[in-house]
Amino acid sequence: MIIARTIAELKEAKSALQGTIGFVPTMGALHKGHLSLIQQAKAENDHLIVSIFVNPTQFLEGEDLDAYPRREEADRKICELAKADILFMPTVDQMYEHDELSIGAPAIRGYILEGQKRPGHFDGMLQIVMKLLNLTGADNAYFGKKDAQQLALIMQMVTNYFMDVKIIPCEIVRDEKGLALSSRNAYMSEEEKVRALCLSRSLKRATKLIMGGKLDTVSIKEEMLEVLKEADEVEYVAIVDRAFRPLEKVELGNTMILVAAWVGKPRLIDNIWI
Ligand code: PAJ
Repeated sequence: MIIARTIAELKEAKSALQGTIGFVPTMGALHKGHLSLIQQAKAENDHLIVSIFVNPTQFLEGEDLDAYPRREEADRKICELAKADILFMPTVDQMYEHDELSIGAPAIRGYILEGQKRPGHFDGMLQIVMKLLNLTGADNAYFGKKDAQQLALIMQMVTNYFMDVKIIPCEIVRDEKGLALSSRNAYMSEEEKVRALCLSRSLKRATKLIMGGKLDTVSIKEEMLEVLKEADEVEYVAIVDRAFRPLEKVELGNTMILVAAWVGKPRLIDNIWI
């Protein structure tokens, strides 16, 4: 595995690759959720590139940019074991210059839910993903459904800018109790991790109600909020269609239920596609 820390090193390493490239962008502190993307990319392509870059432009003032977990040595081993061809770990200077042109998230889909709570986050996320997709020249790029809105916006960017890459959505990986894996789970105490299960439990509750024939989203949300009382603060519970339009009634095959809540230090998100 070649470790590239500069654009020049990445380009050189890439020039030796022939065949399809699968790419998995991450911010590191790799867990089994990342690993599932990495393994899928490895299985479906001739070559695998993984990137680790804690992207400053997608963190808002006062967010956890400095505290974001950094585990370079362990991450490197994981990528090596997964037989990545290239691990790209650039510095901020390599990725950004002063006074750049910017990419704006779309005015509606980019500014609801995660975008409402974190204005500007998706602009920075799209900016770095565009750069990384261009640099790696990936044929297929893998993203988790855990960040459903991020995934939808990346797909939209690729469509709107006619980018020559296929975006592959990957299933959410959870621990044995149902907690969606996240690098930010490391901020939680054991007690908080137990309470954090209320996110996935609220989604299970919603699924059960829907299976029982309840499709009215207002009452489903009410029941979810009951389950979510264990969280310190609920930011949103949303039931939307695949284009992120709010639904009055669940449409089977076209619905996503999304939740964001604080438990201890981290702000957690989870979702389910119905
Ligand atoms: P990061 O949070 O490190 O996540 C990298 C990728 O792993 C994303 O596509 C995310 O959806 C996926 N992922 C995280 N937890 C997952 C889980 N439990 N199950 C399945 N997939 C999971 O998302 C980012 O980084 C950044 O915004 C990035 C796209 C790299 C741009 O900076």
